[in-house]
Amino acid sequence: MIIAGSASQNLGAKVAKLLNKKFASVDTWKFPDGERYTRIKDEIPDEVVIIQSTYYPQDENLMELLFLISTAKDLGASKITVVTPYMGYARQEKRFNDGESISAKTVANLLEAAGATEFITLNIHEESVLDFFNIEAKNLSAMAPIAKHISTIVEDEPIIIAPDKGAFPFAEEIAKLLDCTCTYLSKVRLGPDKVETRIVDLRCDLSEDDLKKHSNVNIDSVKGKEAIIIDDIIATGGTIINAINILKEQGAKNVNVSCVHPILVKGATIRIYAAGCESIISTDTISSDTSLVSVAELIADALK
Ligand code: R5P
Repeated sequence: MIIAGSASQNLGAKVAKLLNKKFASVDTWKFPDGERYTRIKDEIPDEVVIIQSTYYPQDENLMELLFLISTAKDLGASKITVVTPYMGYARQEKRFNDGESISAKTVANLLEAAGATEFITLNIHEESVLDFFNIEAKNLSAMAPIAKHISTIVEDEPIIIAPDKGAFPFAEEIAKLLDCTCTYLSKVRLGPDKVETRIVDLRCDLSEDDLKKHSNVNIDSVKGKEAIIIDDIIATGGTIINAINILKEQGAKNVNVSCVHPILVKGATIRIYAAGCESIISTDTISSDTSLVSVAELIADALK
């Protein structure tokens, strides 16, 4: 049986349909004081899959997920596979400054304590977060369905661009599938709130000091090309907008943007289009107007 929380109802229904499994009827709402109520209205079998992304409002979606897991456990499920297509708090996987919470670890501990016996997520921001789990924890990649969609929108051979080095493996994965080139931009942190993005040629690796010396490292391979940016997350859009500006300056024919998790806060969508991007393509790990690619098949295959 597939059980979905309110943040992943559509995706959960698609997964249930693909697997030909029962999609549980779940009631969730908020009491007037803000507390969350959940009720699974079907009888709980021995094995269940619970799907819930924990994006905004993160804490409410997480509490709902914890309630669903512990209810399934209380009511007799012995195998509880938790699928969190987008895992909130995964960006705080270590103590960057003294005294900070390692939020990702707390979330992993909570899911397990509630009764999860297996954990599945997609393109988690830091793979090391999986090590916080004592149960089996898997990280799926949405690059194949994203690449498939990209192949339907490009006319010429594209160049795949990662907006920072951390996203380069995604660009490589897509470039391999589409048999095209890829590169990455370099994100340099010049001060606490100041991030500058510069372009680096294919697989050439400059140190941050070198980048500061060479204010404009040129790249000819983007000129006249259809550039496709790929990142795991778009939140405020700041990283992507920097990248669009650079690619346009470098003479890209056009720029499309893709990501797995469309958090898209603070007017990111409008600001990204205003920067001159043709289209934003994302998956449905978080439901958004940009969710043109479904990860339902990927999740269903992992559950088989
Ligand atoms: C950072 O390393 C991530 O991969 C994304 O690039 C980042 O979270 C995007 O954030 P924003 O859209 O706010 O620039």
